[in-house]
Amino acid sequence: MEMSPNTVSSVLFPWSLWLLFFLTPVTRTTSSAPSSEAPPPANTTLLFDSGTSLRNCSCSAALRDCDEALANSLCRCHTAPRSALPPAGLTEPGTLTVWLKELWVLEELLNSSRVGHLRLSFCGIKPMDSQYLALLGLRTLRIHSAVPEAPYPHQEMTISPAAGLAMEIETLSFDISSSLSVTFLDVAVLNGLSALKAYSVLGPPAHTLPQHFPHLALPLALPSTDTPGDPKDPSEQASEPPLLFTFIY
Ligand SMILES: *[C@@H]1O[C@H](CO)[C@@H](O)[C@H](O)[C@H]1NC(C)=O
Ligand SMILES: *[C@@H]1O[C@H](CO)[C@@H](O)[C@H](O)[C@H]1NC(C)=O
Ligand SMILES: *[C@@H]1O[C@H](CO)[C@@H](O)[C@H](O)[C@H]1NC(C)=O
Repeated sequence: MEMSPNTVSSVLFPWSLWLLFFLTPVTRTTSSAPSSEAPPPANTTLLFDSGTSLRNCSCSAALRDCDEALANSLCRCHTAPRSALPPAGLTEPGTLTVWLKELWVLEELLNSSRVGHLRLSFCGIKPMDSQYLALLGLRTLRIHSAVPEAPYPHQEMTISPAAGLAMEIETLSFDISSSLSVTFLDVAVLNGLSALKAYSVLGPPAHTLPQHFPHLALPLALPSTDTPGDPKDPSEQASEPPLLFTFIY
């Protein structure tokens, strides 16, 4: 039996109902030093650009953003040549801190990385142009802008559907935690000029993405995009994890 692609997708994907929701950022407009009361955090990875290479540090201390001299003296750091960066992006399920001055760090280091908790500090002078950065599995984002007089120097956001949506998600009868989260971050937010805004869309299935977001080049090999155009076994398609797309701008 032949089915049109549209029929197939509406039959097989309950989440093709598309659930759209807005996320609320936690905005901190005043610059706050890390609290000294907090329990000592486990070592976190800090990466920052030093011209043609990258400093890769393991830090136990909480540092002031962009203070490279302090990082070099308090953390255990080594230099990683730019040419040795993993071409497919980084994988850091825990916390990753990145201080950057130039776009190449985002392009060559972070784009299409899998990071659970990302702290991005923009330490440069030349403002970032609007461009999106794709991240997989992101749960929290903290951004800092060292641009002088930036009205929003510190902001953070948690990427999870609002509690109020739990019911709607339940009625779609799948576990939101099984979804694959893909975040598109407009890097212009690093200029600190506006409050973070975000929304998430649950679905559509990855292979229909180009149809719905034609201008989005997905720099990721999603499970269902590796054989585009191949007719697929419907049962295989039905087991695709639902995708949670979040746009932060
Ligand atoms: C940073 O160093 C750690 C430990 O040596 C290593 O596992 C990791 O891959 C390095 N990351 C980069 C981007 O070089
Ligand atoms: C944690 O960081 C400190 C420096 O801040 C370093 O001396 C220590 O070796 C690090 N531990 C690990 C397991 O990387
Ligand atoms: C990330 O990759 C996508 C797709 O290749 C590209 O369109 C986008 O400009 C890249 N973003 C950055 C910040 O390099």
